[in-house]
Amino acid sequence: MLRLLAVFFCSAFAVAAPPGPAMAQGSTAELGKGRVLVTERCGGCHAILPSRVSRHGDAPPFAEIVKRYPPEALAEALAEGIEVGHPDMPTFEFSEEEVLQIVAYLKSLE
Ligand code: HEC
Repeated sequence: MLRLLAVFFCSAFAVAAPPGPAMAQGSTAELGKGRVLVTERCGGCHAILPSRVSRHGDAPPFAEIVKRYPPEALAEALAEGIEVGHPDMPTFEFSEEEVLQIVAYLKSLE
């Protein structure tokens, strides 16, 4: 438990900074929650699982997005409300905890 807390706090502060060692190892529980989150909030348009086709023709699959942007770079955008500058994609805001979960999931796609 103590270790988990430590990982959480270290990664929370690492969000805007270059990834530290704590950020590199997300827990499996975190990853699972992240997958649920992106399935619910992003899956309507983006392909969440590798080897799937996005439902929205213009939305790049997540496996493609993590090739373009390192998940750490997306973390900040997710926390502040992602805006990619096109009308089709809504603006999201996630808590720090949710961001860490999403990043853990995205890392699993790399
Ligand atoms: C209503 C549909 C929709 C939803 C829901 C949606 N997106 Fe998107 N997203 C798009 C579309 C369409 C694009 C492509 C925009 C473009 O290229 O102009 C896009 C692009 C992106 C990009 C930029 C890719 C690039 O190369 O610039 C990121 C990052 C992204 N989405 C993340 C997310 C995340 C994370 C979620 C869930 C929290 C999400 N999107 C939910 C439709 C959606």
